[in-house]
Amino acid sequence: VSGRLYGLGIGPGDAELLTLKAVRLLGQVAVVAYPIPASGVSLARSIVADHLPTGIVELPLPLPFDGKGGAEAAYDQAAAAIAAHLDAGRDVAALCEGDPFLYGTFIHLHVRLGRRYRVEVVPGVSSVMAAAALAGMPLAARDDALVIIPAVIEEAAIERLLATAQAAAILKVGRHLGKVRAVLARLGLEDSAICVERAGQPGESVRPVAGLAEAPYFAVILVHKDRPPCRA
Ligand SMILES: C[S@@+](CC[C@H](N)C(=O)[O-])C[C@H]1O[C@@H](n2cnc3c(N)ncnc32)[C@H](O)[C@@H]1O
Repeated sequence: VSGRLYGLGIGPGDAELLTLKAVRLLGQVAVVAYPIPASGVSLARSIVADHLPTGIVELPLPLPFDGKGGAEAAYDQAAAAIAAHLDAGRDVAALCEGDPFLYGTFIHLHVRLGRRYRVEVVPGVSSVMAAAALAGMPLAARDDALVIIPAVIEEAAIERLLATAQAAAILKVGRHLGKVRAVLARLGLEDSAICVERAGQPGESVRPVAGLAEAPYFAVILVHKDRPPCRA
């Protein structure tokens, strides 16, 4: 029989935000797969480092961030490398920061392997939840509608989405900060927005969006029309 694939949500960076289930599975699987950046170390691996048993096989996967060229071929190769272990009967845990099914790299592996193998997805603490907790800013209450917006979409689309909801979490900020700020300013929402960077990671910060010159890729902007940030 082929092995089982686990899409393991490992939270935003703080190892204490790993679930008990993720820790248990890391102690049981034969192989742990994780994305590695073009340069530098794997953030995902560093989050679980204390829970990797001796002898576990490590499968680092060179996967580009969303939207970068060559992504499809890289995901094909990563899926093939994982499939080889599954075919040999070995269980594989594929690590995914935050939650696997919220813009997670794991989605691209699930698409390729989900029909051929037994797959179990283990939810993780998403950056959206971690950012709200760090900022002390409730995401939504009562009849609030909360939208999750990837900053990479067109300015007009961001504006339409923001206009329809009481609250928003804007992901993938990085080089799209200027565009997001322009929309927030037009809607009179800049003072109701906060930028949470690297939540749960070294150097985490919470800053008001008004006046912000730059933001990293690992940043979430939270906006609430009726509940402005307490700690801005
Ligand atoms: C490809 S998405 C992955 C989201 C992840 N699966 C989740 O559930 O949080 C990457 C985006 O998530 C957000 N992000 C992930 N980790 C973060 C962190 N520790 N602090 C702030 N934002 C983070 C950023 O907006 C980043 O651009």
